Amino acid sequence: MEFKKIGVIGAGTMGVGVTVDLVLHGIQTLLVDTADKVLENARSEITKSIRFAPLVHKGAPKVPVKEAMEKITFTTDIKEVADCQWIIENVTEKWEVKEKVYRELDQKCDPEALFGVDTSCISITKIASITTRPDKVIGMHFINPVFAKPVIEVMRGFHTSDETIEKAEQLLAQLDKKAIVVNDYPGFVTNRISHLFMNEAMWVVQDGVATPEQVDNIFKQCFGHKMGPLETADLIGLDTVMHSLEVLYESYQDPKFRCCPLLKKKVDAGLLGRKSGKGFHDYSKKG
Ligand SMILES: NC(=O)c1ccc[n+]([C@@H]2O[C@H](COP(=O)([O-])OP(=O)(O)OC[C@H]3O[C@@H](n4cnc5c(N)ncnc54)[C@H](O)[C@@H]3O)[C@@H](O)[C@H]2O)c1
Repeated sequence: MEFKKIGVIGAGTMGVGVTVDLVLHGIQTLLVDTADKVLENARSEITKSIRFAPLVHKGAPKVPVKEAMEKITFTTDIKEVADCQWIIENVTEKWEVKEKVYRELDQKCDPEALFGVDTSCISITKIASITTRPDKVIGMHFINPVFAKPVIEVMRGFHTSDETIEKAEQLLAQLDKKAIVVNDYPGFVTNRISHLFMNEAMWVVQDGVATPEQVDNIFKQCFGHKMGPLETADLIGLDTVMHSLEVLYESYQDPKFRCCPLLKKKVDAGLLGRKSGKGFHDYSKKG
C-alpha cells in the first residue's frame, strides 16, 4: 500500500522538516498552521531545504523545487485534512495546544485516518485517550534534518494496534526510513535520556564550570559525538527543550528533570537557538 496524501499539522521546525521529506519522496502534503505569516516563513524554509537537501545529504532525492512545491498545499483551515490517510502532527510541545488539535482532528478526519504524533515527551497513550481511535494513534519521533535520518523512534501507545505499527512502517519505508519501535512512557528513549544531558550541560554553564563552546567541544572531541548537547538544544529550539523538560518533570515528579534557570532565562529573552539566530551559540553571522 502506498500513502499518497498526508496532512501535516504545525509548520514550525518539525512541520517544515517533515513536509520537505514527504514531498522529496513524491507525497502530496497539506501543511496546516494557525497564521498566514507562519506559513509564509515555512514556504521559504521549505524552498531552501528542498534546494540544499541533496547537497548536504547524499541519500536525499534531488527534486526540482517547482515540482516539489506543487505537491504542498499551505492552509490555515484544519478541515482541509479531512480526507488524508495519515496525519502527522507537529504542534507546540504543550498539552493544552495538542489537546485542542486532537479533539478537532478526531472530529474532522475520516474514522480510518491514522494519527502520527511527533512529540518530544508527551505520552502517546494520553493523546490517544482524547480521541475515539486510540488504536490508530502512534508516536513518530522525527529528528531534524528529517531528510537525513534513516531511522526514527516510533512509540507504541497502550492501545496502538499492530496494524497501525505496520502502516507506520509502510509510510516510513516510502521515506526510506526504518523504525525502532519502543513502548510509551513520557520522553520515550530519546528524550528521557538526551534531555538530562542537555539540561545538565546548561547547569554546568550556569555554574561557570565551562563555556558552551568548551562543553560542546568536550562531547565532540573527547567522546566523538557529532554534536555537543548545547548545539543539539539550539537545533531543537530552546523553547521546545524547556517545554519538554516541563512535561518530563510533571510526568515523573522527579527533580532530576527540573529545568535549568539559565534555559528559562534564554527563552524569556527570546534566545531560542538556531530558529531565532542565537541560543547558547550565535548563528547570526554564520549565514
Ligand atoms: N524541534 C525538534 O527538534 C523536535 C524533534 C522531534 C519532535 N519535536 C516535537 O515536534 C513538535 C513540534 O516541535 P517544533 O520544534 O516544530 O515546534 P515549533 O515551536 O517550531 O513549531 C510549532 C508550530 O505549531 C504551530 N501550532 C500551534 N498551535 C497550532 C494549531 N492549533 N494548529 C496548527 N498549528 C499550530 C505553531 O504556530 C508553530 O508553527 C513538538 O511536540 C516537539 O516536541 C521537536
